Amino acid sequence: MTDQPTGATSGQPEQGVPVPKRVRVHHLVQDKERGEQITMLTAYDAVTARIFDEAGIDMLLVGDSIGNTMLGLPSTIPVTVEEMLPAVRAVASAAHRAMVVADLPFGSYEASPQQAFATAVRMLKEGGAHAVKLEGGERVAEHVRLLTGAGIPVVGHLGFTPQSENILGGKRVQGRGNEAAERLVADAVALQEAGACAVVLEMVPTPAAARATEILRIPTIGIGAGPECDGQVLVWTDMAGMGSWSPRFAKQFGEVGAALYTASRKFAEEVRERRFPGPEHSFAE
Ligand code: KIV
Repeated sequence: MTDQPTGATSGQPEQGVPVPKRVRVHHLVQDKERGEQITMLTAYDAVTARIFDEAGIDMLLVGDSIGNTMLGLPSTIPVTVEEMLPAVRAVASAAHRAMVVADLPFGSYEASPQQAFATAVRMLKEGGAHAVKLEGGERVAEHVRLLTGAGIPVVGHLGFTPQSENILGGKRVQGRGNEAAERLVADAVALQEAGACAVVLEMVPTPAAARATEILRIPTIGIGAGPECDGQVLVWTDMAGMGSWSPRFAKQFGEVGAALYTASRKFAEEVRERRFPGPEHSFAE
């Protein structure tokens, strides 16, 4: 998407700077039709959401990856709705242009379309999200139909779906081989027919992702799914180089972890050597 960000730095739109137009579901399909790539990053707080929004990222995903990245949990599985909601609220408060998508965490939607509806409503009403994301294909099509029918945009998630890692046998590429690829495409079509506005494809071979992208009217957003998707998503801590490990498919575009380490070392050094605070950081009276 080519809309330029405004470059506000305070968290509020600057006076005289036009508030950018919000990215909406119809823009996603327009982008696909025009061949413009959609950008999505995860965000879990207002500080990073503001930066990514100003940088022109189209969609901010408050992912249940908050579990592994921020909450020190071993996976996404223990993440609760109560843990997600403050993060969704923080991201939504800081994003003036990006579409904010809230993940429905494991156990909060699978049991029935009604359960999915109740959780999605909380994400929109209490969190301020513009859309929700849930994992699964055909098996959640009825859930997606109820939500979209009620006015809640839904992003699907196929391929490796972390909430099902126990049944998938760990973090493995999905959709390998003709049969599995066909099943993946059928699931994607089922989500589209149920009203989903986009589908995330995670850890899928490039040809299978390309096939889904070709067949669908709605955009595919890849993560470890090759270059043929209509957009790309990364977990921001992988993208920015925050951790000691990141998956092979996640390119590191910065060294933010190293920059924070250096800044905190300098802070400690100057405090210990009594060089901070100086007169310019102190009140004489
Ligand atoms: O929770 C998350 O961060 C996700 C991405 C991996 C797409 O679902």
